[in-house]
Amino acid sequence: MTRAIFLAALVSTAPAWAQQVDRDLISGCVPCHGADGIAKFGETPNLAGQNAPYLLNQLRAFHAGKRLHKEMRYMSRHMTEAEMEAIAAYFASLPPR
Ligand code: HEC
Repeated sequence: MTRAIFLAALVSTAPAWAQQVDRDLISGCVPCHGADGIAKFGETPNLAGQNAPYLLNQLRAFHAGKRLHKEMRYMSRHMTEAEMEAIAAYFASLPPR
């Protein structure tokens, strides 16, 4: 079982924990998208409360190079499908602004 699948399981079964553990997976996102999923810069979108299927589709698109964006391509280049699912579920679970 990969770490990401473990995280995905945590996200769906134990939200309080998941937020703790997920820090690892999302630490690289924080400078731009914020620890709370509220963006730090004008050109960066908020992720908090966005629906999970949309976030997952965007991550897949960046990962595959179908949605073009230099930083996001770089950030997503090594993500597995399970990691993208865990990340999408995590940001979707945060309260929107
Ligand atoms: C260097 C800053 C930066 C970092 C680091 C970064 N992002 Fe992004 N992200 C952006 C910008 C800017 C966009 C908007 C892209 C565009 O204009 O198409 C974006 C877009 C996105 C989107 C699409 C949102 C939407 O509404 O369509 C998702 C999902 C996302 N980022 C997730 C992440 C995740 C997960 C991480 C960490 C693994 C991360 N980002 C790290 C800057 C960043």
